Amino acid sequence: MKIDIEFILNNQLISATVNPNSVLLDFLRKDKKLTGTKEVCKEGDCGACAVLLGSIKDGKVEYKSINSCLYPIQKIQGKHVVTIEGLNSGSLNNIQNAFVNEGASQCGFCTPGFIISFTAYLINTRKFNLNDAINSVAGNICRCTGYHSIMRSIKSVGENLSEVNSEYLIEQGIIPDYFRSIPQRLQTITFPTKNAVDYDKLISGGTDLFVQVPENMLQIRSQISENIIDSNVWSENNQIFISGSATVSDFEKELSGKLNKTFLNELFVLFASQPIKNSATIAGNLVNASPIADLTIALLALDASITVSNVHGQKRSVKLKDFYINYKKVDLVKNEFIEMIYFDLPDSDTEFNFEKVSKRKHLDIASVNSSILINIVDKKIRDAKVSAGGVAPIPLFLKNTSEFMIGKEITNYLLFDAIEIINNEISPINDIRGSAEYKTLLLNQLFKAHFIKLFPDLITHEVLAC
Ligand code: FES
Ligand code: FES
Repeated sequence: MKIDIEFILNNQLISATVNPNSVLLDFLRKDKKLTGTKEVCKEGDCGACAVLLGSIKDGKVEYKSINSCLYPIQKIQGKHVVTIEGLNSGSLNNIQNAFVNEGASQCGFCTPGFIISFTAYLINTRKFNLNDAINSVAGNICRCTGYHSIMRSIKSVGENLSEVNSEYLIEQGIIPDYFRSIPQRLQTITFPTKNAVDYDKLISGGTDLFVQVPENMLQIRSQISENIIDSNVWSENNQIFISGSATVSDFEKELSGKLNKTFLNELFVLFASQPIKNSATIAGNLVNASPIADLTIALLALDASITVSNVHGQKRSVKLKDFYINYKKVDLVKNEFIEMIYFDLPDSDTEFNFEKVSKRKHLDIASVNSSILINIVDKKIRDAKVSAGGVAPIPLFLKNTSEFMIGKEITNYLLFDAIEIINNEISPINDIRGSAEYKTLLLNQLFKAHFIKLFPDLITHEVLAC
């Protein structure tokens, strides 16, 4: 199957006939010979294939970094793709010069990805912050230089910026001046109209699909979720609504920006690199049904609900805790998809916590994770919702444990009794992430950690040793 696509690549309008499920990286390197964008892991882990992707919104172009190795080319219709070749016009730009001056590039394989990620940060920020700038390249791996020279380069660029906006970045030679013409040029390209049609596979973010089965993808009829559902996150009457195509970045922006809610901040930092968060969708994360998906575990404790729709426009509601049927099996039939995810924001009497153990702290898959939502009135638990990942074939809502705690006071004894119930609710297995016994121990400790973090005055730390 082939489709026609049109988009702007650097400063050039491209019209091409492509397999819709081929990835952008292959098009850039094989068809366009733009080999500055590198192929290394092809799993979204190293950032060597990072490019900027600009989409028009309210007459302006919003840019984000993406990993082109996992990005189906059909998703770039009507957008602006910028590779490292598109960031300089015949000579090195200021960021590239800083990398040269600080010795931040040796073999150079990782360098384009670092430059792209840092440029995406500068385009999207209003005030330079060194810590945030360094975090923006957290998804880029360098095997040669060590990271200090890279951090020095980032610092030296930032120190010389008196302000940060696109016009200023053009004046400073950080982005080329053809960027000025892109909004008007993108408006002339047709954007796909929303249309639900029959498909074999619905592609949402694709960040797992194109790791697991990239070759199979080339053979199937697909539909991309953003051609059916909007990518919005919004709040209304203390509820958060996440549409089926909304990315993790969209969700993070809504929570931290408009609502100033910090309750999921730590999870977002641990969860994934910026380019992955810019592509991966919340709905995709839920449907993927990994028993240890961090966001799923958090949303289970937040008692999220889902609106499921089909291509004929029929809708139904499902509680997330009822969505998981068996290992990797969810309550969806052919041509059904998640249209919306929604949950109540915790009120001022309600505490939320997320805990995770993984081999590496950042950007790693959990061995075991857990979330809790707990509401206390007059020292008694009025409501509790506990979830756990990595201890069953599905992401688990701990129903019996949650119900057991309601009406009780928080004490060490309560935790010990609750842990007995937890251990009867879970069914961990021995696998690469640890033995069943080890995972049980981890979950027991994470459960205690919720209370040590949220209610340090009500329990004693000795509880951890028992
Ligand atoms: Fe490593 Fe794409 S090649 S993230
Ligand atoms: Fe060689 Fe970074 S300079 S991998």
